[in-house]
Order: sequence, then structure tokens, then C-alpha cells
Amino acid sequence: MSNNDFTYGLATGIAICAGLFSLGAAFVYINNQRAKNAKAVAHASQPLALSSIAVSDDRASTSSFVPNETHKISPDDPNPATLVRLQHLFEVNGDKLSQIAKHMVAEMKKGLATDDSTLKMIPTHVVRRPKGDETGSYLALDLGGTNFRVCEVTLDGRGGTRVRQSKHTVTDDLKNGTGAALFDFFAECVKQFLLSDDQKEVTDKDLHTNEFKLGFTFSFAVNQVSINSGFLMGWNKGFSASDCVGKDAVVLLQDAFRRKRMNVSVTALVNDTTGTLVSHAYSAPDTYVGVILGTGTNAAYVEKIENITKYKKDPAGAKDMIINTEWGAFDDEMVVIPRTKYDHKVDRGTANAKSWTFEKLISGMYLGEICRYVLVDLVKTGEIYIAGGTKSKTLSVPHAFETAFMSRIERDHSLDLSDVRTVLEDLMHIPGTTLADRRLTKAICEMIGKRAARLSAAGIAAIVTKMNKLDGCTVGIDGSLFELYPHFSNRMRDAMHEILGFSAENIVLEQARDGSGQGAALIAALAGKLTA
Ligand code: GLC
Repeated sequence: MSNNDFTYGLATGIAICAGLFSLGAAFVYINNQRAKNAKAVAHASQPLALSSIAVSDDRASTSSFVPNETHKISPDDPNPATLVRLQHLFEVNGDKLSQIAKHMVAEMKKGLATDDSTLKMIPTHVVRRPKGDETGSYLALDLGGTNFRVCEVTLDGRGGTRVRQSKHTVTDDLKNGTGAALFDFFAECVKQFLLSDDQKEVTDKDLHTNEFKLGFTFSFAVNQVSINSGFLMGWNKGFSASDCVGKDAVVLLQDAFRRKRMNVSVTALVNDTTGTLVSHAYSAPDTYVGVILGTGTNAAYVEKIENITKYKKDPAGAKDMIINTEWGAFDDEMVVIPRTKYDHKVDRGTANAKSWTFEKLISGMYLGEICRYVLVDLVKTGEIYIAGGTKSKTLSVPHAFETAFMSRIERDHSLDLSDVRTVLEDLMHIPGTTLADRRLTKAICEMIGKRAARLSAAGIAAIVTKMNKLDGCTVGIDGSLFELYPHFSNRMRDAMHEILGFSAENIVLEQARDGSGQGAALIAALAGKLTA
């Protein structure tokens, strides 16, 4: 058992206790009419048992708590009719997950043969994973979503790395301004990073005369024509900088360095999923899949080149190549995943409406916003925050309800949900919340967070099935959702079991830390050996 497992195990235990306690509390009779309504709704929606949302932890959700005349409702509990209705909307059961995984395998196959699939299945030109004996120091620039980092990665030749880095926030103005301003900002950050190295004492003149090699992790869909060239297919994750779509991201960056008279060569253009796969394989050689579950979501995996029938180049004797699936766009045709009216509202509010719809059900950029739309709706129908819902201006501000708030809410196991109160009253400015309001808010976060985890598990199940690796492999996963969102990994594992049965035991889901930065450095370092 890893430390992570232990932490989750502990959290699970606490959650079960908290859940059982709230169940106990719910058995008190208060409102006869409410109990009758609940009975009617629960009956209509069989087999959706209320237990799976009334109990804080999913693993404790097998007992059946369907309100009836003997299981009375307390005023501290949310209205069961509301809970059942919402659970019905957000639940993706095991059968549906299997259908989703099956459809994804079909789309993967289609995307390997043609460009006519929701899955872009981009050949990355990375044909080998590192062996762990590589050495040297390399620069990497990592643009993920919310953050942008400059790193210097030193490989120790024994699977270990040392990283010096600077981290920056990409402001909304930069994301939505001109491409030149965005890329100038990146170049300036690299310049300051190099100049701030106390040990090497790099001067302004050195920036011009010395050559610096750099791996660029650019976490957007690009049409990758070689290891250091890729044309941006379209922005997502809240970016819309002008004059970039259709352009080569490496040329855009290289031009910015030139404007600053810096002698930096971009030797590799890498997606964060590819970087995660490569860097995790550096220390865990059985890694065949890299996944990002953060601001956005995506996966890369190792495919046999003979299966990539649309790849017309000479693979230089290589047998395998990493494929960037761009699964964020999976099911953009809306054929298999059930969407709620809240998902459609979120989609309509994005700069890339009707695309990257899988990502919009899963990733950190959108979960809080789905939740906010549900809450706004329930305020309108009078089902939540009766005292202060209409008074909060914040609740109607797009993206004001952050995914990090959901994380905080799900982590609150106090009896009166005091931290949930802090989030709602102090951060969302909703005065006078009741315990029932807070429990309902928490249940909604659970439903949305759980659906995200289960859908991402369906994606992984599809990939390992397509690779024929059900007998065992490691999946390196980076990103704040997997790392920080309570129960996310356990919910994924449960869903993997529902889809793959016992084979799920052979698939190791492992936290990959800082995969994208290190991976870019590794690929830059080994460009000659690792690429076709
Ligand atoms: C978006 C990008 C993809 C990236 C993912 C995670 O889906 O299109 O390239 O890997 O976000 O950052």
C-alpha cells in the first residue's frame, strides 16, 4: 500500500463514519409531507438508492436508504426529491461506462486510420521511451493551462531528476490578447530564469552568444509534423490569443526569442500527456499511458506503428510511437455520453462551444461551473439557499464557483459542515445557509466530481483495452484533480473495476508529479534517439 493509498484509505474511513452519522441523523421524523414526496420519487427512480449520495463516501454506498414512512426526514437533510432527481441526471452506471469505453476504442481505431474521428490520435514522432540511464541538464518550458513554468531539468542517469523552476500565472489578458504578446511573455520568463541562475552566472551577452536547447510542452492540440514542429489546431481551456491557430507553435516561440535576441533552439514540441508518459517511464519503465487530469484532460499512450495507418513517414526502424489521443474532444458528436442541461450551459459559455465536450465534463476548468449552474437553478426553484440565494451576486458570476471549492466542500467531514459554510457564505456571499443547504451542496459536488472520475476511468479502460495491456501496465497521471480532489482516484478505481472486472487489478494508476516539464526536457535531451 502506498502512502497515497493510505491517505485515501484514512479519508475513506473518516468519510464512512461521517456518512453513517448523517444517515443516523436522517432517521428522525419531521415532515410527513416531505417523506411522502420522497417515497414517491424514490419509487419512481428505482434502482437509484439515495444512499449513494446521502453517504459521504462512495464505498459506503451499498446500504439502502430510501425514505419511507419509517425512515423519516430531518430538516437538516436536503429534500430527497431534489437529490434523486439530480443523481439521476449525473449518474453514469457501469453499463453506460462500458458502452462509453467501447465507443472510445472504436473512435481510437478510426482516428489512427483517418482524420475523420472525434479523437485526433496525433502521432507525436516520439518512438521510444527513455531507459532511465540518460544524463545531462536541459531547459523546458511548460504551458499547461492555468500556469506556465520554466524548468531546468538535470537527469542523473539512474532514473532520478533535479529540477530548478520558476512558475508564472498566465493572466486572462495574455490568454485572450495577441499571440505575439503571449509568446513574448514566455520568452521574457525564460530570459529572467536564465539570468537568475546564481551558479552559472549567465549574462545578457551569454543569452545572445551561447546556444540553449529547450523542450516546449505546449498542451494544446497541434498537428505535429515533426518532433519540433506542430500547427495549432485550435485553442481550448480559456485561451483565444489571436494569430496563433493554424501557426506552428515552435515558430511562434522561436520568433519571440529572436525578438529578444536570445539564442534558444526549440528542439522538441511536446504535449503534456506525452511528457508525463515519457517522464513517468523514466522511473517506472512499465508505463504505457500518460494522463492529465487538471485544468484540461487528455491521454497519450504507446501504439504499434503498423496500426497507425494514417502515418505515412518512415519510422526509422521503430515499432512503437506515442499517440496523443486528444480525448478532450471525445464524443463531440454526442452519441454516447448523457449530457445534462447544465453541461450544455457550460459549453455555451466557452470560447470553443460544441468542441472538447468530454473535457468539459471532466476537467478542473469546468467542474465548478457545472456546479454553479445547478446551484443557480435550485435557487430559482426555491430548493436551496432560501434565506440568501437570491442575495448573492457572486453566484451569478461565471466561474465564480471554483473547482477548488468543490474539493474543499468534499473534504469537509465536520458535523455542521463548517467549511462548506465558509465557502458558501464568505466566498460565494450566500448568507444564512442551513445545514440542509450545505448537505445538498456537498451532495451535488459529489455527483459532479464522481461523474468526472468515472468518465476519465472509462477513457483509461478504453486505452488499455485498445493496447491489449489488460495483463498489466502502469498509467502515469498528473494534474490537480487526480492529486488533490478528494476520492477522485478511488472513484476512478471503482469505475475501472466495473468496466474491466478483475483485469482492473493489473492496471496501476500512479501519481506522476511534474511529468510535463521533465518529459519535455527528456524528449529535448534525447530528441535524436527518441524520435522518428
Ligand atoms: C487540452 C489540450 C490537450 C492537453 C489537455 C491537458 O485538452 O487540448 O492537448 O493535453 O488540455 O492539459
